[in-house]
Amino acid sequence: MKILVTGGAGFMGSNFIKYIFNKYPDYQVVNLDKLTYAGNLENLKEIKENPNYKFVKGDIARNKDLNKALDKGVDVIINYAAETHVDRSILNPRAFVETDVLGIYELLEAVKQGKAQKMIQISTDEVFGEIDEGEFFENSPFEPNSPYSASKAGGDLLCRAYNVTYNTPVIITHSCNFYGPYQYPEKLIPLFITNLMENKKVPLYNQGKNIREWIYTEDHCRAIDQILHQGRIGEVYNIGSGERLKNIEIANLILEALGKTRDMIEHVKDRPGHDSRYAVNSDKLRKNLDWEPRVKFQEGIKKTVQWYKDNPEWWQKLKNNEYWQYYKKQYQTNDENSPKDSPI
Ligand code: NAD
Ligand code: TYD
Repeated sequence: MKILVTGGAGFMGSNFIKYIFNKYPDYQVVNLDKLTYAGNLENLKEIKENPNYKFVKGDIARNKDLNKALDKGVDVIINYAAETHVDRSILNPRAFVETDVLGIYELLEAVKQGKAQKMIQISTDEVFGEIDEGEFFENSPFEPNSPYSASKAGGDLLCRAYNVTYNTPVIITHSCNFYGPYQYPEKLIPLFITNLMENKKVPLYNQGKNIREWIYTEDHCRAIDQILHQGRIGEVYNIGSGERLKNIEIANLILEALGKTRDMIEHVKDRPGHDSRYAVNSDKLRKNLDWEPRVKFQEGIKKTVQWYKDNPEWWQKLKNNEYWQYYKKQYQTNDENSPKDSPI
């Protein structure tokens, strides 16, 4: 099988490419990535010489780049490419619309023209908005609250419309939050782990009351594997672990794993439009595609902390580079829209 993975130099895309080569060494993978601040070829250093792997630097929203990656056609496009951080989307929404909406349009056009037999759109439960009780189902209404989730919702709706109108072969996934090795240190879990390792405080919004559902990298890769091989065209699949935690519970687990005390938590100004709770019902994937998560959060968080402890050069480089410094400065200078008082 020949797969075009877009955004394959990011957190989950790189985990997925390595998962594929491990399980299916004969598959061919082309990785098209723009290498934004979140794209990092070091994530793929183990496989860079693999003859079945090819990297193309480019933008999914640019037809020319996409054609270069598609070359003689592929069997499947799996789209991981996106602008992904809610706080950044509050500061700079434009990039989100460009990649997460226009980028999807370009991918769908390519599939519609027969350059790939199928596309899997990796999306998020955040498109459904927040839910204080109960769970989101595959057909729950979209009520996104951040420029990030609104852009992802736009891309997902285009996928739906192309499937209905043109019969374009697309499958959409809505996953809960990912965590594990190689996650860029702007997101909650790696930010908190790395700050504490640097002996810095961790900025917690809204007293840590907000709830997210969390899935470990490997479990998400296994879900996409099932969907790739057995998923039905035109279907939508929620991906969830069922493990829902308050942010304060996660902060406490990380403090404990690193032997730190609670005074390292800094309660900061809340993120505007901060969704209270996400929870997805993933019965369809479990029943129809015989998938279930294997890594419990208590175990996954320990493995994740250990990975960041074992790989300080990986994240220190990212926290010292120009993109990180620029992001940090934006927090300090943009009072009105700043998600929090304290710089990261
Ligand atoms: P990430 O931010 O770590 O990586 C995104 C990658 O996409 C980077 O390598 C970046 O360079 C690349 N990219 C960005 N814009 C691009 C463009 N225009 N053209 C080509 N490449 C581009 O992301 P992640 O956390 O691994 O998320 C992957 C996907 O999963 C995203 O679509 C995201 O919306 C979705 N998702 C993420 C989570 C989560 O918790 N991280 C949860 C559910 C769904
Ligand atoms: P994040 O990792 O940004 O993912 P998302 O917003 O896409 O769910 O945030 C996860 C949760 O952690 C969310 O409720 C916001 C909260 N959070 C903090 O309290 N402090 C932080 O510095 C960050 C980045 C997130």
